[in-house]
This record gives sequence, C-alpha cells and structure tokens, in this order.
Amino acid sequence: MKQVTISIPATSANLGPGFDCLGLALSLHNTFTLTGSDSPTAFPLIIEASGVDAHKIPTDASNLFVQSAEIIFAKVGKRPFSLHLQQHNCIPVGSGLGSSSTAVLGGMLAANALVDGGLSRADILQLATDLEGHPDNVAPALYGGLVLGVQGEEGLHIEQFPIPSLQATVILPDFHLLTSEARAALPSHIPLKDAIFNTSRIGLLIHALQTADFGKLNIAMQDKYHQPYRIPLIPGMAEAFAAARCAGAAALALSGAGPSLIAFAPANHQAIATAAQEAFAQAGLTSRTWLLSLDTEGACVTIAH
Ligand code: HSE
Repeated sequence: MKQVTISIPATSANLGPGFDCLGLALSLHNTFTLTGSDSPTAFPLIIEASGVDAHKIPTDASNLFVQSAEIIFAKVGKRPFSLHLQQHNCIPVGSGLGSSSTAVLGGMLAANALVDGGLSRADILQLATDLEGHPDNVAPALYGGLVLGVQGEEGLHIEQFPIPSLQATVILPDFHLLTSEARAALPSHIPLKDAIFNTSRIGLLIHALQTADFGKLNIAMQDKYHQPYRIPLIPGMAEAFAAARCAGAAALALSGAGPSLIAFAPANHQAIATAAQEAFAQAGLTSRTWLLSLDTEGACVTIAH
C-alpha cells in the first residue's frame, strides 16, 4: 500500500490580455490523497470529497482526478488494483479559479508517484495541457507564480516570471457559466487592431506585475479578445468592474472564463470586494469573496509508504 498527497493552488488564467497562455497561482488550495493497494480484497474504487462544493464532485469513475490518473496508469503500463481518493476542496467548482486543473494535474502527479511511473514534471504538464487544451491554468498550478505557456510544433515552452508579493481580491457571483459556453461566445476571428491591442499589453502586463506598478497594470490588464464578449453573459459583471474600480481597484480581469472577477490594488482590498458584491446584489446575485496572496510553490507532492 502506498499513499500520495498532493496540494495544488488555484489559478487565475488570462489576466486580461493573456488569453489561453498566461496565468497566476493563488493562495487557495485543493488537496488530494490517493492510496493505492494491490490487495485483491480491497474495494476497487473509493472516493470521498469534502470542503467547498464537495457535493459537485463525482464519487465514481467519472471523477476528473481519477480519469486523469487513469491516463498516466495506461501510459506507463502500471496500476494498483484498488484506489482510494480523499479530495478536500477549498477552490470553488466552475468558478474560473482552475479547480478542474487541480484535478487533472493532481490525478496525473499522484498516479505517476504511486506507481513510480518515471514521468518528469514537463511530461506531465504536456499531458495535462493536451487534456485541458491550453496551459494557462495547469502551468502556474504546477510551478507556482506567474507563468507563460508557449505552445508550438516543438512542444510546450514554459516561462516563469519572479514577481513580488501581491494581494488579489476575487469575487465569485453565484452564477452558472460553463467554460464551453464562455468559449462559444468568442468570435472565430480577431481584427488585426485588436490583436495588436492585446499583444502590446502582454509585455506590459508582465513588466507591471514584476515591478508592482499599478499604474501600468491598469493599462496592461485591458483585453479585446474575450472579455468584451463574456462580460455581458454575467449579470452585474460590468457594474462590478465599475464598482471595484471606484473602490480602489487598479486593474481588473475576468478570472479565466469567469464567472469570477480578480482585482489588483495596493490597498482597500476589502472595500473592493464589498463594492463588487453590492453590484452583483443589485443584479440579483449573491457572491463569495476571497482576499488572496500569490502561491509561489505550485503543486506539492508528499509520498508515504
Ligand atoms: N483560457 C481559458 C479561457 C481559461 O479563457 O477559456 C478557462 O479554461
């Protein structure tokens, strides 16, 4: 019997202009403990879910962590007879904070460690990116901090940027928005001027985060690829952006595909959260808020024999 525990951070993908390629790891974690046994009397699959949104976690073979683990078992040709997963969530499900990425990455890392699969972190990141379709959540979840993922024929290139500590305010309205719906709202083509708008801002965004320059961040976090199409899908989101800005937010972005909003500011973090919550309340939505710092560790794997 062998046990692996994985702690993986939440992530905010896109950060405005960095659609599908840039993400930031945050100080909110899901924890997965996977125990493998070869005893023929053990129950083949047991899944226990606890914590935030635990009722939304499947406790059968359709569980995303388990499915991701099975990809690794199949790839390396080794699998314990029975699996026992204990999943404790602090990251809300379907929030735009990378909850699915923690399951994908967690399952792959745990399976590899459980059977001594011999895959490197880079191998696992490539497989997790293939499953997710883009690296902007899984790469910062694996490595921590601010991470850019560059995909190409030569494979996946990852660049991690050291940045000073920052406080982020996250506001999550109680609104159901599937990533697939949020992606379906996007145009298939982007005008050249919008492409230039975003590309110029990605460079500025990385510089502004590295220097904690909130004045530059204000310009750098603007986006024309996805937010103009997604913000109208979420009741009160445009008003929440405006209210958070009035309360002192220097820069704002939809977190991932939404429906959460992430705000950066040098101060007034609680006031920003309250202002955005009031805007969502005006639109008839309750909301949850978090004041978070950065995670710089990424995924942590602990093995017990
Ligand atoms: N970059 C992705 C999107 C993140 O915005 O659709 C969500 O998976």
